[in-house]
Amino acid sequence: MVNAVIGLQWGDEGKGKIVDLLAQDADYTVRFHGGNNAGHTVVINGKTYKFHLIPSGIFNKQTVALVGSGVIIDPFVLVDEIKFFAKEGVNLSNKLVISPRCHLIMPYHIGLDKAYEKQRGQDKLGTTGRGIGPCFADKVSYNGIRIYELYNWELFVDKFTLQVEIKNKILKALGAKAIDTEAELLQFKNVRAEILPFIGDVYLILSKAVANNKKILLEGAHGVMLDIDWSPYPFSSGSSVVSGAINTGAGIPVKKIDEIIGVIKAYTTRVGSGPLPTELPEDLADSLREKGQEYGTTTGRSRRIGWLDLEATKFACQINSLSALAVTKLDVLSGQKEIKVCIGYTLQGKKISYEQCGYKELGQLDVVYKTFPGWSENISKIKKYPDLPRPCQNYLQFIEDQLDVPIKIVSVGSDRSASIYR
Ligand code: GDP
Ligand code: IMO
Ligand code: MG
Repeated sequence: MVNAVIGLQWGDEGKGKIVDLLAQDADYTVRFHGGNNAGHTVVINGKTYKFHLIPSGIFNKQTVALVGSGVIIDPFVLVDEIKFFAKEGVNLSNKLVISPRCHLIMPYHIGLDKAYEKQRGQDKLGTTGRGIGPCFADKVSYNGIRIYELYNWELFVDKFTLQVEIKNKILKALGAKAIDTEAELLQFKNVRAEILPFIGDVYLILSKAVANNKKILLEGAHGVMLDIDWSPYPFSSGSSVVSGAINTGAGIPVKKIDEIIGVIKAYTTRVGSGPLPTELPEDLADSLREKGQEYGTTTGRSRRIGWLDLEATKFACQINSLSALAVTKLDVLSGQKEIKVCIGYTLQGKKISYEQCGYKELGQLDVVYKTFPGWSENISKIKKYPDLPRPCQNYLQFIEDQLDVPIKIVSVGSDRSASIYR
């Protein structure tokens, strides 16, 4: 059984929580794209764990965590994360395998990411500053360095030195701090021995697992509205987010994927710049932000808040060919007198769909809303779907009907236990 979890909005939908839930009987959980721009949260019995590179399904004795070739890795973040989980009692020595094909996020990628943002000034994109775009750019311009290069230290030094020479020219031209090759290499030398034991043949492991009908859970990062091709570019992240990335980033044949579960928040959030058609006025946004604790898991930035956008998420459902939906953070909407949902866009009076919009159109269009009566009850302790207040069920039913995908999981709190299966 090969299942995947994909974010359908602008990231932070609660994928980490859903992956942890679904991983409880999984043999493997697998990251297949993105990098440590991702921040996935799992809460178990009130204790919070934040994941950036390591798959969120590790709280299971039998589950092996795999990092596929589509993921880009900041080696220092990786080692910190491994150490963090070791302190928490999860020894990843026999539990984590990283593809040798993963590209490394280098200090100059982080420097370039920040320098580009500074140059953009008012028009900055609001990246996470983790070197994501420049690392993917190096990958496709044949300037990248894969993690397996760490095996051959002399060769690694040569490649790293050449790249620093190139990047320092750009960094200097942009008025940014140059990279000190010697100092950085010293850091790499320290971290290298800690990383090498985790590199292994992820493709082979997954091929065998698929052949033996093992349960594999793929963990998407970000969200479709940040996909490098299907977002309002350039307000994007550097990787393919849609389910096709499972094939390229984990090596699993498309035909072997059984179920794709899309995760949506009951409203919308985004961090960083760019259009957000359903964005709420500050006063209402502030109250939902506080209630939903909408602050970035990776950068701590305030998340922008909007109503649920079914026009955009309908596209996200279609492009992924979803089997089921998980709706999260429904508890955050309790107490709203009215809840609005975007059911379409118009531009200069004419209907326009999400995929017809570039960032300019998405920033200018008018939103068509449907308004629902809210509910006042605290729903965070509810365990059965029929016990949800009627207006709340109506809201979910409308989402299901509009998106034409069955809702299988409803999340009513951050804890693993605050989950309703339908
Ligand atoms: P991800 O990137 O998609 O994994 O999401 P994040 O972890 O970045 O952000 C989701 C936040 O919402 C985290 O703080 C979660 O603990 C929290 N969360 C997840 N599901 C729920 C829910 O149903 N209700 C509430 N109140 N919080 C939730
Ligand atoms: P998870 O997996 C929310 C956003 C950034 C920025 C844009 C580009 O936790 O849902 P980048 O650093 O990737 O070049 O930034 O993409 N972004 C995310 N927003 N959740 C994420 O991941 C994100 N990953 C990237 O905020 O707007
Ligand atoms: Mg997140």
